[in-house]
Amino acid sequence: MSELIPKRVLVTGGQGQVGHALVQQLAPDFQPIGYDRLGLDLSDLDRLADKLHAAIEVHQPCAIINAAAFTAVDRAESQESLAYDVNALAPGIMATVATSHGLPLVHYSTDYVFDGQHDGAYTENDLTGPLSVYGRSKLAGEKAVMAANGPHLILRTSWVFGAHGQNFLKTMLRLAQERDALSVVNDQIGAPTSAELIAQSTHTALSNLIGGASAHDPRWGLYHLAASGHTSWHGYAQYLISHARTLGWPIRIRDDAIEGIAARDYPVAAVRPMNSRLDTTKWQQSFGETLPDWRVGVDHALANIPLQP
Ligand SMILES: NC(=O)c1ccc[n+]([C@@H]2O[C@H](COP(=O)([O-])OP(=O)(O)OC[C@H]3O[C@@H](n4cnc5c(N)ncnc54)[C@H](OP(=O)(O)O)[C@@H]3O)[C@@H](O)[C@H]2O)c1
Repeated sequence: MSELIPKRVLVTGGQGQVGHALVQQLAPDFQPIGYDRLGLDLSDLDRLADKLHAAIEVHQPCAIINAAAFTAVDRAESQESLAYDVNALAPGIMATVATSHGLPLVHYSTDYVFDGQHDGAYTENDLTGPLSVYGRSKLAGEKAVMAANGPHLILRTSWVFGAHGQNFLKTMLRLAQERDALSVVNDQIGAPTSAELIAQSTHTALSNLIGGASAHDPRWGLYHLAASGHTSWHGYAQYLISHARTLGWPIRIRDDAIEGIAARDYPVAAVRPMNSRLDTTKWQQSFGETLPDWRVGVDHALANIPLQP
């Protein structure tokens, strides 16, 4: 009796938040092959195409997922050239190589491609206007992937967190155990989105799109993919700290000692959009997936981070 062989998928950034979740969650329907920067360095532009061709020859994947990125938003302001290499030029090379093999590329982008001045949630048709080097480099990456003219998914997401990796949720959890008072920005809004949700949704899309006449499926393209609902960084911190307390975390700070402050009073190198809300209607209609409220992902992540007394 012949067994079904899972389709292989190459995943870059396999040690990052989203890459790690993909490697965990694509199986068993797909067989993810995770690459870290030692296996595939996206800043090594001279050798990237050859290395990717070789990886494709060896593994014969059905798709490539690029979850690697230069994500240090403030550091990108002083490392513009590196941010562009990794976030813009490398995805363009990857898309060209993928297209030359007839393979689809899944690529992630960000709410930071917008200027945040829009009322309500941004749709895929809204004008971009990045405020930072990171946002501009990611927007250039989107355009480079599209320019290769192959089947692709570009998934713009926001405020990513998970049990694995470094993120705002884990920083707040640590500070809430150490400090008596905290000041958190309360006038920037968005949807905290778990790496697990992004991986699960990527799985859903690939399951729909891979196989048959997949290259011609009209559902390839640009999407907004984020948890439902929205909050501020301050609302997010309040929620996660209070929920962690109920789970038995040794939280030191009192709820009323988490102060909300304006972004202008919290100076950082990169300007962030005030409104990061992404309208996910296109995603939900194309793939029949209802995206859960952001608190569901926070609850799940907190339940999966080992208690640190
Ligand atoms: N984090 C967010 O809040 C957020 C928000 C919106 C969109 N996104 C997008 O979502 C995607 C996934 O982000 P994430 O949160 O999973 O990021 P992450 O946790 O920072 O992971 C990024 C990964 O990329 C790898 N990487 C960086 N430079 C590389 C290079 N030169 N060559 C190869 N690998 C390299 C990192 O490797 P090392 O571990 O070795 O550094 C890391 O494993 C990215 O496209 C990001 O732009 C993220």
